[in-house]
Amino acid sequence: MNNSWQKWVRPLLFRTDPERIHHVAMTSLHQSFRLPLVRNKAKKHLFLTDPRLKTTCFGLSFPAPVGLAAGFDKEGVWINTLSALGFGSIEIGTITGQAQPGNPKPRLFRLPKDQAVLNRMGFNNRGSLWAAQALEKLNIEPILGVNIGKSKIVPLEEAVDDYLLSFERLHRYANYIVINVSSPNTPGLRSLQNKEPLTKLLTSLQKANKVLRQNPVPILLKIAPDLSDPQLDDIAELAEETEIAGIIATNTTIQRDLKTDPDVVKKLGNGGVSGAPLTLLSRQIVAKLYQKTGGKLPIIGVGGIMNADDAWEMLRAGASLLQIYSGFIYSGPTFIRDLHLGILEHMKERNVSQLSEIIGENASSIG
Ligand code: FNR
Repeated sequence: MNNSWQKWVRPLLFRTDPERIHHVAMTSLHQSFRLPLVRNKAKKHLFLTDPRLKTTCFGLSFPAPVGLAAGFDKEGVWINTLSALGFGSIEIGTITGQAQPGNPKPRLFRLPKDQAVLNRMGFNNRGSLWAAQALEKLNIEPILGVNIGKSKIVPLEEAVDDYLLSFERLHRYANYIVINVSSPNTPGLRSLQNKEPLTKLLTSLQKANKVLRQNPVPILLKIAPDLSDPQLDDIAELAEETEIAGIIATNTTIQRDLKTDPDVVKKLGNGGVSGAPLTLLSRQIVAKLYQKTGGKLPIIGVGGIMNADDAWEMLRAGASLLQIYSGFIYSGPTFIRDLHLGILEHMKERNVSQLSEIIGENASSIG
């Protein structure tokens, strides 16, 4: 399947505008998965249920470590279809307090020479009220993460209220909530990663979490790969102070260390780069965080996982769970299964029966 994907299907899909084909392909898959026979057959083939892959993290039991990263299903309209492809968890979003159209098109580009994607989507979504109403009608099957962000029209000084609004509307549908302060495509958003505004944001959300719920929902923070060491120190300290459940590292990068012709890249304009150019950068951030938090804080490693070796190295760097996006675009629907099979292969080679035995073992040499 993977070979025929790369030889036949991908070239066909890559001829079409990336944003359009994303919707067309997912909508068709979603329609065909409405037939239980098709869906069950796909699930049987793609979903690996091996006890060695099971992982418990922030009180949740994940059937497998590889999950879908935010941005693929921004509004949560394909949750159960995506789950049948073998993901151990699905993260939807980023969802904002207000409905917003996102940036003008085109805003999504492939960089095949780099096995990368450049996007400046700008949190296009129908807002957290719409999302809550849609989720209410759904029988959600996988472990669900809901990623929330700031609406573009809301000034940075009022960001806390905007996050609180989405949190109040969405927490009941989520197994975990992600606070996204790391997208490069909302002006000023990443400044919320600085100590003072971040303390205010996380403290307010945790307060609401305790007021609204008997059992607080795990709140995770998603960070950029472009943070300095002192910023990472602050985040590690803050994570402990505000008792967040974990960190998702990383979002896309604003760096442009690419093989694609610089003039071509320049013409494409602003945005965040994901895929292979992130592999080492994200792994390094994960390793640093693992060390700075003494391995006590769960980290979801995401960024440039393009094959099973990358997945394995991300675990060894300190990630307890993994997420993917760009690798899925480049390798197709069997990618998740291939990653899980590859991880099992590595476990066999190393003679380990649980992933926890290798998590973070290489953090000190790369962090
Ligand atoms: C993203 N990503 C993202 N992240 C997030 O927190 N909220 C979002 O809305 C989006 N949107 C988005 C759109 C597109 C088109 C891409 C490619 C990516 C970032 C994504 O979740 C992930 O962190 C990065 O893509 C790095 O992982 P990969 O792609 O290298 O596996």
